[in-house]
Amino acid sequence: MSNFVSVASDNGVAVVTIDNPPVNALSFHVRKPLYEALAALRDDPAAKAIVIACAGRTFVAGADITEFGKPLEQPELRAIIALLETIAKPTVAAIHGTALGGGLELALGCHFRVTDHGAKLGLPEVKLGLLPGGGGTVRLPRLVGAAKALGMIVSGTPISASEAKTASLVDSVFDGDLLAQTVRFASEMASRGEAFVPVRDRNNRLAETDLAAFDAQAADLARKARGLEAPLACAEAVRNAITLPFDAALAAERQLFLKLVSGDQSRAQRHLFFAEREAAKIPGKDVQKRKIARVGIIGAGTMGGGIAMAFANGGFPVTLLETSAEPLQRGLATIEKNYAVSVSRGSLTEEAKQKRLGLFKASTDYADLADCDLIVEAVFEDMAVKKEVFGKVDGVARPGAILATNTSYLDVNEIAASTSRPRDMLGLHFFSPANIMKLLEIVRAEKTAPDALATVTDLARRIGKVPVVVGVCHGFVGNRMLAARGAENEFLLLEGAAPSEVDKAFTDFGWPMGPFQMGDLAGLDISWRNRKARGLTAAIADTLCEQGRFGQKTGRGWYRYDSGAREPVADPDVEALIRTKAADLGIAQRNIGPDEILERTLYPLVNEGAKILEEGIAARASDIDVVWVNGYGFPIGKGGPMFWAGLQGAAKIVERLEYWHRQTGRPVFEPAPALRRFAVTGSWESVPNG
Ligand code: 3HC
Ligand code: NAI
Repeated sequence: MSNFVSVASDNGVAVVTIDNPPVNALSFHVRKPLYEALAALRDDPAAKAIVIACAGRTFVAGADITEFGKPLEQPELRAIIALLETIAKPTVAAIHGTALGGGLELALGCHFRVTDHGAKLGLPEVKLGLLPGGGGTVRLPRLVGAAKALGMIVSGTPISASEAKTASLVDSVFDGDLLAQTVRFASEMASRGEAFVPVRDRNNRLAETDLAAFDAQAADLARKARGLEAPLACAEAVRNAITLPFDAALAAERQLFLKLVSGDQSRAQRHLFFAEREAAKIPGKDVQKRKIARVGIIGAGTMGGGIAMAFANGGFPVTLLETSAEPLQRGLATIEKNYAVSVSRGSLTEEAKQKRLGLFKASTDYADLADCDLIVEAVFEDMAVKKEVFGKVDGVARPGAILATNTSYLDVNEIAASTSRPRDMLGLHFFSPANIMKLLEIVRAEKTAPDALATVTDLARRIGKVPVVVGVCHGFVGNRMLAARGAENEFLLLEGAAPSEVDKAFTDFGWPMGPFQMGDLAGLDISWRNRKARGLTAAIADTLCEQGRFGQKTGRGWYRYDSGAREPVADPDVEALIRTKAADLGIAQRNIGPDEILERTLYPLVNEGAKILEEGIAARASDIDVVWVNGYGFPIGKGGPMFWAGLQGAAKIVERLEYWHRQTGRPVFEPAPALRRFAVTGSWESVPNG
């Protein structure tokens, strides 16, 4: 029939197979033959039941995301599902892999859904700034109830086959050959001779809904949406399913979908979906990868412990090395405690915890690193210490082992040059807490071998990280841009903005927190130490540190944290200190509004990104977006700084930077040539890279 949809008969059961690698997305070239096949089978007396199955690694993983934002070619998914619901003979979806988005909606158009044990089912559209647009918000609650459907649709998190069975989303979970069992199941249903009720007409679960409880649940979710439109639209659509007749709720879902799909937030989130996958594509990626079976971690402090957990969570045996028994035991105890917290929260079973702890081997002897295929160093941020560590590693590591440093700022080329094997050396810059944060900056040094780079990029995805390859410079992509974002922070205070006003401008923009709250959380002493090491000063922050105000950990920082509270409270002492410093420096104070705060912090952020791009430190603008969304909490609905620059209008950014440059003379405001070029062409791809 078609290369993408085929029909075969098995004992009178028609098996329709979709074959559109890699994830069987419902592209136009699938929808058309699928519609035609189902229309023909509906009227074919030889077919007593219909099974919809997929070839390859998964059931349909959704609509084809690349088609969004373009004119939709008919038939659309909704028409296929409507057609399915006119079929009187039993229809069954045979689900393996993932039934996501439009894939699950297609399955909801069938009378029955059956799966194998590994299947996952979900409606992740919200993660693309959308809501399910193929009837998912109207049909799912009819099977699993409104409360469960709301949770699934607003979180976008898929559920397992067994959970789906318990929730009545699937009818059977089969052992063994899924297709053979499904055909048997379909045949049995056909032999019953019953008229099966389509999901659209199953109203019992919905009738039981406690609307007040539903509204309370929806209000709670709305509070967490932080300016994103899609979660609110999801909740509204599921509420419609409860309060409106089926067709009216379906039509309302359509309207909400159309509004979201053409909006900036969904465009931004779709951009990020592809950007994350693009970031993992590096030149020479198809080289033979090195084998990684065991990972060595040097240093069991904040980062080393988290990195070790990240690898153990991914199933890798790890060797954790410290200078002596005492820090080693302390590190291991923290790791155990972290796993115990996960168990107490119900996100990890006791059995899984034991299994992960069983992967740890602890040591104080470098010789124990000899069987490691990757060795990650996370010791003090000090060049001499790092060189000493790699000197010892050089003496024991097996030939071909990959050597990595987790340094935040140091020159990876210099560390590599101190070893006899610079081709095996690179940076793996994890973010804190390393077992949780998704971003991994992979630092390519001058001599890093392509196969070493390709190996760790693959490995990163295997341990659930989002890898971005970056070049060597002070702070790489993320921390270098963070410094540019923060360059005006103290000036803003001296000129009259309160820390809480700056932080509020940030949270209103969509950041999880502002720079001063962030500083208090991270500890002001860390940047103080860094400044001192580099001979730099900060008028206000240095004084706070001299007063022992290190942030949350000392109960005082930019804010007060009374009796161990985590909520910041504005501190009149800090405000007085700022006024005194301004007077000392002869700076007149005035009102500073949120627009100015954002201009003087976010435009330099974008500008630094442009410099990073033109220097070739990042390969693509979208890589920079991936760094900022996954590592620093840039709001996903704005797509990352470089995407947002397009929304904001680069010409306006250039103009305002020029204005502030004239006012202050500070280099952070000097527009980068790459930004000027972007302002003319509207495309970051037009910027010479490196
Ligand atoms: N449309 C188009 N391309 C898709 C796609 C989709 N729905 N899902 C995945 N792809 C592409 C990826 O871009 C990637 O392409 P590349 O190799 O050229 O980079 C390739 O398929 C493989 O994807 P992954 O690298 O992500 O493969 P994994 O095996 O790691 O993950 C997956 C598989 C879990 C299915 C993951 O791809 C995924 O989560 N996909 C998106 C699922 C989704 O969001 N579905 C809802 C779509 S919206 C919708 O259905 C609207 C409807 O309600 C009307
Ligand atoms: P930490 O002080 O918590 O831990 C460092 C550990 O290394 C200590 O346990 C120490 O005993 C051990 N150590 C020191 N010398 C050693 C040696 N010669 N051999 C074996 N172990 C040794 O420091 P943290 O925060 O974990 O930082 C480690 C590295 O990670 C630094 O380079 C830092 O810049 C980088 N980093 C830190 C981040 C953070 O948020 N803390 C984020 C990203 C990177």
